[in-house]
Amino acid sequence: MSTQRPVYFVDLQRQYEELKDEIGAAVGRVFSSAGFILGAEVEAFEREFAEYCGVKHCVGVGSGLDALTFILRGLGLKPGDEVILPGNTFIATALAVTHAGGTPVLVDHDPKTYTMDAACFAAAINARTRAVVPVHLYGRAAEMGRINAIASEHGIAVVEDAAQAHGAVYNGRRCGSLGFAAAFSFYPGKNLGGAGDGGAVVTDSDSLAAWLRQARNYGSTVKYHHEMVGYNSRLDAIQAAVLRVKLRRLDRWNALRRQAAERYCSELTELPIGLPVDVSGESHVHHVFPIRCGRRDDVAKHLQSCGVQTGVHYPIPIHQQPAYRRKCRVPGRMPFTESIATQLLSLPMHPHLTRDDIDRVVQALRTFPGDLAPVGRVSATCQGEVCTTASAPLSETVLLRPAAARPDNGPRAAGTASRH
Ligand SMILES: Cc1ncc(COP(=O)(O)O)c(C=O)c1O
Repeated sequence: MSTQRPVYFVDLQRQYEELKDEIGAAVGRVFSSAGFILGAEVEAFEREFAEYCGVKHCVGVGSGLDALTFILRGLGLKPGDEVILPGNTFIATALAVTHAGGTPVLVDHDPKTYTMDAACFAAAINARTRAVVPVHLYGRAAEMGRINAIASEHGIAVVEDAAQAHGAVYNGRRCGSLGFAAAFSFYPGKNLGGAGDGGAVVTDSDSLAAWLRQARNYGSTVKYHHEMVGYNSRLDAIQAAVLRVKLRRLDRWNALRRQAAERYCSELTELPIGLPVDVSGESHVHHVFPIRCGRRDDVAKHLQSCGVQTGVHYPIPIHQQPAYRRKCRVPGRMPFTESIATQLLSLPMHPHLTRDDIDRVVQALRTFPGDLAPVGRVSATCQGEVCTTASAPLSETVLLRPAAARPDNGPRAAGTASRH
């Protein structure tokens, strides 16, 4: 039995070693001030993160799921309103739509980037479509140029799910500044992660930001005065203090992730596996490093036996989850969504991976006793005409009410895509 330290999928202990003194001082500052809820530390983080993303406002909330849900609630969705998202994202993207009162509409992924296929998005739009949620999956910005152009042509709000893309850049602008509003998660394993749950909404919309500041705090900005029926979902001061320390490291850590990705690519290029493309540019922050292979579960077991941890993102597409039976619509075929669910395997990826760690991962893959090649080829699935037919072989289609009028009872600026 090997006594070597495993190659961890995410290594928050090494991260802590790097930050120990600064984290201790930051957390100590919160205890000394006894200001645990909202207050100066949260305000400072909100200012710094808004500036980092290149937007006017950041509002800290309890989680990434809450951040997305708040934005979609802010749009004032009515039953029957549809929100389009990629088919194999983390469940929270779909949950947010459901919690906000809408119906998730799932479309296929682009085989090259693994983000939402813009042609499938365009083909899924109908009179009930209110918003699109491009997910910057695995740390790569979705194809925002095309997505924004299509959305603006149809008057649809663009809500970025940036939970995996802190610091990723698209055409010179950071993720978070590319749509009407964006949701971030600060779950500890994220590129910018706290010491517990946390999230934030970033936006240029003054009205959405003002509404959120009330909504997250029992519907109140003045103690015991409640202007609306609100929630308790606030980023807490300890999270904010920790995040401020880590935000100063984020660009360097993302650059280290890119270096690790480049090394994986150059070392693994001779193996018959699918590798992420264009790994070096600033647009990718490699939250996850997925390879595409056959016999995925056997490969994972083999790597585990070599002391290498892996992950799967994600094994079951949303439309095949029991929770979404009769609660989503799938307007087109989903071949790539379904194939990545069985073929993608995420290798260890974090800024503290050493050269030796990467060599061990590479060596473990090279010694897999079998064929690594993914079975079958999937080409681009949705050139428009495929998705226009409403066939959904693997899912049930929800019964939708006729398109309702759209009274805007959300924050004034939040309901219309024309403002962004
Ligand atoms: C793409 C995506 N969206 C939303 C979320 C939800 O974030 P949280 O876990 O902070 O609720 C996550 C978290 O993993 C995510 O990966």
